[in-house]
Formats: sequence, C-alpha cells, structure tokens
Amino acid sequence: MAEHRFEQSGPAGPEIDWWTMLTDPEYLKSPYADLKRIREQKPVHQDPVTGVYFVLGYNEFRQMATAPEMGRDTRLWSNGWNRDEVRQNDPLTYNLFSEFQPQMTNANAPDHRRQRGVYEKAYRTSDLQSFLPMIEAECARLLDALPPGEPVDFMDGFAHPLSRSLARIAFQIPPDMEDQVAEWIAALGLIGNIIMSPEQKQNAQTALREFKVYLRDRLASGIDRPGEGFVGLAIAAFANGTMDEDETLNNLITLIAGGTATATLLGNGLLTLLRHPDQFARLRANRDLLNPAIEEMLRFEPGCSFILRVAIKDFQCGEVNIPAGSLAIGLMGATNRDPERFADPDVFDIERQPNPHNVFGAGAHICLGKAQVRLTAKAAFTALMDRYDHIELAGDPVWWGHRSDQHGLHTLPLRLGALRLGNGT
Ligand code: HEM
Repeated sequence: MAEHRFEQSGPAGPEIDWWTMLTDPEYLKSPYADLKRIREQKPVHQDPVTGVYFVLGYNEFRQMATAPEMGRDTRLWSNGWNRDEVRQNDPLTYNLFSEFQPQMTNANAPDHRRQRGVYEKAYRTSDLQSFLPMIEAECARLLDALPPGEPVDFMDGFAHPLSRSLARIAFQIPPDMEDQVAEWIAALGLIGNIIMSPEQKQNAQTALREFKVYLRDRLASGIDRPGEGFVGLAIAAFANGTMDEDETLNNLITLIAGGTATATLLGNGLLTLLRHPDQFARLRANRDLLNPAIEEMLRFEPGCSFILRVAIKDFQCGEVNIPAGSLAIGLMGATNRDPERFADPDVFDIERQPNPHNVFGAGAHICLGKAQVRLTAKAAFTALMDRYDHIELAGDPVWWGHRSDQHGLHTLPLRLGALRLGNGT
C-alpha cells in the first residue's frame, strides 16, 4: 500500500484524510500499518475538517472509554444529527437517529444503568451456560452439512448461520421470520458506520419501523412469559415501568443484532490461525490454550473497529483537551497494537498473557454480549478441531469493504477434512 495515500502535505505538516482512509477498501482489509504510522505521530488527533477526535493510544483509549465526562449519548454531539438545522433540512437523518436513540447503547448515566440492569444478569457467563448444549448442537448440525474435502465458504456455511441461529433461538424468532430479521439487521447495521448514503438511511429507517412493528406485536401476543428469557425480561421491564416502549423495542433490536456479530470473530480468528500455522499447531496440541488464543484473535484482528464517545464536559485525554459536545472515536486496530501496552504487538501469540485488549470497549458500556461471544467461540473452535485434523484455505479470503465500524470477512474459502493437502495445519 502506498504510504502517502492518506496524507496531503500542507504548511503545518502532513494531514490525514480521515474519512477517505476509514472507507478505503484496502484500509478496511488491513488497517494496522496506517494506524501504526498515525499513532506514532501522536496518540490523539483531531480531524480539522469535521472536528472529530480520533484516539489511537492504548492509555488514552482507556481514559476516554471509562471517563464519566465522556458519554455515549449522541444527542449531545454539537455537530451531529440532533440539531435544528438537521431536523429542518434533513428530516430523514434526524428521524432515523432520533427513533433509534432511546436505548442503553446511546444512554448516559443514570438512564444507561437503568436499562442495562434489565439484561446484565442474563448475559453473565454463569447464566449463559445453559445455552452451551444448544450452541454445540448447532455447531455439529452446521458442520455436518459441509462436504469434507470440498471447497466451502466458512462464513456462509458456518460463521453467519451459527450467529444467526443463536440469535434466533435465544429470542425465539420463528423460522419463517429469520431471513426478514437478517435483512432488517443488515440495513440497521450501517447506522454504526457514521457515513451513510441517503438510500442506506432510507432502508435503515424502513427496517427500524418494520422491526418495531414486528416486535410490538410479538410482545403483545402473550407467547413470552414475563421475566423469562431475553424477550420476557423486556416485557417485565416494560410492565414494571423500568423501560418505556421505545427503549424496550430498541434494546431488543440491538441485542438481536449484536448476537450476529460473533461471526466476525469466528472468521477473523480462523483465518489468523491459518496464517500462523505454528500457533494453530500449538493450539491443537494443547487445548488449554483455547481461552488465551481466543483473546489473542480478538486483539489481533478485532471485528469491531471503533467505539464512540461524546464529551459531556471538557475532558483532558492524554495531552489533548476534548471540549464538551465533541465526538471522539477510539480506533481498535490502533489501541490493540500499541507497543506501550503490548510487547511485539504485531506478533500473533496465542499464549500472550496478560492480554487486556479493547475489542469489547471499556467502562460502563463494555460489550454486554462478551461472555456469549467467548462461549460461542470456544464451542465453535473446539468443534472444528475435534472434527477436522486438517483445515486449509481454498482461495483468497475477501474482507468487507462496506463498513468502517466493523472488520469482518465476506468470504473465507476453506477445505476441511482429514486430507493432508499442501501446507495447511
Ligand atoms: C465479536 C463480537 C462482538 C464484539 C467485537 C463486540 C464489541 C462491542 C463494543 C466495542 C461495544 C461498545 C463498548 C463501548 O462503547 O465501550 C459493544 C457494546 C455492546 N454489545 Fe457487543 N460485541 C460483540 C458481540 C456482541 C453480542 C453477541 C451481543 C449480544 C448478545 C452484544 C451486545 C452489545 C450491547 C447490548 C452493547 C451496548 C452495551 C452498553 O452500551 O452498555 N455484542 N460491543
């Protein structure tokens, strides 16, 4: 990749064209060299065009993610969607963001705690154990359908269907609604991208409204017992006044959509193992290394590319003052490879200890689904290693080029089996 591509020389030195970079398919494939170069200039940058702050240093990322001055409510972003000017001149943008705003992800304390508290217990490691037999059964069912020795796409054949099945089963989505829900999730997912075309915004708004109608009818249907299961928890919280209707519906949508994110870890992680056959062999030889190996997969090829914060008050982030009302973006591919925190950060080492990566964010908003992600990944990699003593690439993997907030694979062509073909592990 040409080193100069994202820089324009000016009197004040090289400037970074952030939005070109963040949407460039080459960058999205492998952002690490660009992010390293930018982090080495300084750990916190401000985009002179939009005023957005970019946080790349590990310590600064942690400070920003955990500071009470830095919230998650994008209504406070002084240059964002919640302005009279946007409301009047761009009602589509205003309506889309304001209709999806009421939910824990976008709430500051104390509203955030009130909403997150409804689900926190259900997503604890201990409470998720009852899902393990179902996850194992789904892994087996999906792998049974993949022809051994033939080229298969791991993403379409295993990673996405597994993630989707978990969301379907956990939220009891009827089979005839599964494709429709997946379509809504795909349209809504682009909201995390920050940059959206008018057509994408329109699709997302249609998806949001239809998804809400579906969920409202579902909650009213009486098929879920209040307090039981993820949907029942929402019903109980609505009935006792903990959450209003919009919060109840938006939180459910985010949780159903969040469940599908596990696929990025399965694809990115398996590809990383295949690119490091010595590490894959070590893991096969010692399954006790699976937990640290999964953490290293999450650090090395993070499926989530950034977190957002909006300054509630002025906040000193490292050497940079972030004024109230500013949007700050913490870049995962930079912070997870900061040599200030990780020795040999560009080395994939499944025994890395400790491994305090930031892929699930940090602070009050840390990913609610992280225990589920780890449980699923452990079951999936165990199933793969139990079943196949040989896994190799059967073509070039293709990375997503359409989302700057996510780093995942579109296709991962593999040959799975007991056959010994070439240099695979
Ligand atoms: C590999 C998969 C996943 C990754 C990398 C990931 C990453 C993240 C990140 C970075 C955040 C923002 C944290 C912050 O702002 O500090 C987040 C929040 C969240 N995630 Fe995940 N996530 C994954 C899977 C899931 C799953 C499976 C679920 C649900 C079942 C889920 C539900 C949520 C929710 C509800 C929030 C908002 C929490 C809050 O604001 O309090 N995520 N996730």
